[in-house]
Amino acid sequence: MKVAVFGAGTMGSGIAQVFAAKGHTALMYASSVASAQKHKDKLAASLQKRVEKGKMTQEAVDALLANVLVEEKSACADADLIIECVKEDMATKKELLNELDGLCKPETILASNTSSISMTSLAAATSRPEKVVGMHFFSPVPVMSLVEIVYGLRTSKETIDIVDELGKSMGKRTILAKDKPGFIVNRMLLPMLNEAVQVLDEDIGTVEDVDEGMMRGCNHPMGPLALADMIGLDILLEVMETFYLDLGDTKYRPAHLLRKMVSAGYLGRKSGAGFYVYDEGKKIGVNPVLVKA
Ligand code: CAA
Repeated sequence: MKVAVFGAGTMGSGIAQVFAAKGHTALMYASSVASAQKHKDKLAASLQKRVEKGKMTQEAVDALLANVLVEEKSACADADLIIECVKEDMATKKELLNELDGLCKPETILASNTSSISMTSLAAATSRPEKVVGMHFFSPVPVMSLVEIVYGLRTSKETIDIVDELGKSMGKRTILAKDKPGFIVNRMLLPMLNEAVQVLDEDIGTVEDVDEGMMRGCNHPMGPLALADMIGLDILLEVMETFYLDLGDTKYRPAHLLRKMVSAGYLGRKSGAGFYVYDEGKKIGVNPVLVKA
């Protein structure tokens, strides 16, 4: 199967990786061919580390990377499936889907990895709403075993069945969600992360104690503030804005500190600092601006 992934950030690269690992051709797109190539190089470097640790063979890495192609946009015209993972912004996603709708063969399924935006609205930007569906992966994509399939008002049963089968063939468990903000998982998870920021903002506990609280008290694999850093504080803010607007309840209002962190450029792991500071992807301590003198 030929799959094209638009957006080569953490999610896009991870999605391209899992498809390529299963023998599918994965076209990788970013803002330019040069930028996509940089993301492919980054993926190659991270896979090489797995070889050095004895977690993957060189042959498996070479075969995987041979399936990841960086090409001009026109190469996606005959893709069977396109997954967009671009900025979590309705206008940006609609513009891209509309362009892809004009570029691709009529059978191509257009999927979105959106965390919270309405699939019905995104589908309306195309002439094939029955072939538009949510395929929501979780971070880190190669590790997390879930794909949430989201159906809009006009998504066909045939499209749902195809992506459901595909998700399963990638070794993932699929769940089916109706098109409501946050779908199943993020509707529960992101308000909890926002509340963790609120707890910090109210000085109820320190960054480390908030995280330890959920790790040791509830057995979460990582604390909510560390997880927010992994997801991206800008994404958490955008999703909470969508919840607040669409669901209309003040319980979804983004925490004030979350807005301040994003305004200050602290976006989490990808910017080198969020609630924690990172060096080459490794957490090295709490962000000093959050430590009380
Ligand atoms: N990419 C690829 N593989 C990764 C990885 C990454 N970013 N991070 C960790 N791994 C792999 C490691 O290589 C390791 O695999 P091997 O055993 O084969 O080497 C395995 O995952 C476990 O990693 P570690 O031992 O280093 O670390 P860990 O045991 O502490 O697990 C974790 C790390 C998997 C991230 C774990 O902390 C976890 O599950 N955290 C919660 C993640 C979560 O909640 N994700 C959902 C986010 S919400 C979302 O994505 C949706 C959205 O729309 C916002």
